[in-house]
Amino acid sequence: MENIKSYVNQHKERFINELIELLKMPSISADSAYSQDVLNTADAVKEALEKAGCNKVEICDTPGYPIVYGEKIIDSTLPTVLVYGHYDVQPADPIELWESPPFDPVIKKTELHPDGAIYARGSCDDKGQMYMHVKALEYMTQTGNLPCNVKFMIEGEEEIGSSSLAWFVKRNQEKLANDVILISDTGMISNTQPSITTGLRGLSYVEVEVTGPNRDLHSGLYGGAVANPINILTKMIASLHDENNHITIPGFYDKVEDLTAEERAEMAKAPFSLEAYKKALNINQVYGETGYTTNERNSIRPTLDVNGIWGGYTGEGAKTVIASKAYAKISMRLVPNQDWNEITELFTKHFLSIAPPSVKVKVTPHHGGQGYVTPIDNVGYKAASKAYEDTFGVTPIPQRSGGSIPIVALFEKELKSKTILMGFGLDSDAIHSPNEHFGLFNYLKGIETIPLFYKYFVEMNS
Ligand code: BES
Ligand code: MN
Ligand code: MN
Repeated sequence: MENIKSYVNQHKERFINELIELLKMPSISADSAYSQDVLNTADAVKEALEKAGCNKVEICDTPGYPIVYGEKIIDSTLPTVLVYGHYDVQPADPIELWESPPFDPVIKKTELHPDGAIYARGSCDDKGQMYMHVKALEYMTQTGNLPCNVKFMIEGEEEIGSSSLAWFVKRNQEKLANDVILISDTGMISNTQPSITTGLRGLSYVEVEVTGPNRDLHSGLYGGAVANPINILTKMIASLHDENNHITIPGFYDKVEDLTAEERAEMAKAPFSLEAYKKALNINQVYGETGYTTNERNSIRPTLDVNGIWGGYTGEGAKTVIASKAYAKISMRLVPNQDWNEITELFTKHFLSIAPPSVKVKVTPHHGGQGYVTPIDNVGYKAASKAYEDTFGVTPIPQRSGGSIPIVALFEKELKSKTILMGFGLDSDAIHSPNEHFGLFNYLKGIETIPLFYKYFVEMNS
């Protein structure tokens, strides 16, 4: 497939400009103020799929934001690749920390992206990565290089838990029937050492509310005599880890799979510089569970993190007050075999049990999902590996990621097929953060690599 390189080269300006147009649309699923923009983005994706050569494209209504479904079926006896991605993005705030507006894409050069990177919310997660597949399809249909059937399923609620997609998948098993699911919504080690994601963590996300007195109180008149919900909440949260940074919830680790010494030794072979890691984050020391390396802590071990905490007076100056209520949002990243519903229950039970009688505690579960691991001895993985080898000139390393795409476990359960996670982002691309960006090298390399996956997958299947 020599001509994929030249096709990308010939059309790269347009590929970049089309992505820039898509990135101008603020498709923030979490904020209802942007609901029309989310819907408009679905329309734009539909149009892009039509132009790229799908012979059927539909906007599928759901209880929430629509799913864009597209397909090009060339021969029912050939394999079918199902591409999944999401057109929604995270909120942009804190907006003041962006060096350029989040929905006004600009290209800037950086140390890790000497060829330039597009700065915009969603550039890497996931519009840029999703759009690589649309352009790869364009190449394959335009040049007669599409070797099999392809289906696209692009959703608009990934960043808020994919509940409408779960609804859709359960009702459309036949429509979505496939031989492999292909997703670019993860990362790789570096631009010189590609990796294929072989694991995702699960997630349980809860919100807690601690109520003390029935109203805010003068902290002099009442301080010391009634429970301060913020003091209590922080104490309760602090008790959730012990001195080894082990999570103290009874039963939390019961189903956690321990990797063998060989598996851990294999993992440790992936190139990683602790010095560079600390430098990039401007920290003197890393922090985490005793007995595990940084890469183990952020992939094969479960975690518990406060994502937000609030209550009391946070305005200018000082106000002497004991707040009536304190709140926190807490996420637990889970590893395969831990069941997210079970973990949510264990958390709830434990959190209520450690509350002193002087406060009332409420736990509200948000969303969650199961983790995922995929073996590397299947055709999908091998085809992906060969594709990277061709375009990067190096064999990709299998790597378990710390992030979550909860819908992947559901795909396996409902559609009975394996997911291949061909991510082209870098951890340093600042997804979910201000100044999110996606390297032009990565974007174009992705477009180049994807058609080779199709080619090898079909070859290896016949
Ligand atoms: N694309 C990310 C997940 C990701 C990023 C996995 C990098 C591996 C490497 C996805 O959009 C995401 O942000 N997922 C959420 C979970 C969701 C339920 C909100 C996450 O991981 O926090
Ligand atoms: Mn994503
Ligand atoms: Mn995301």
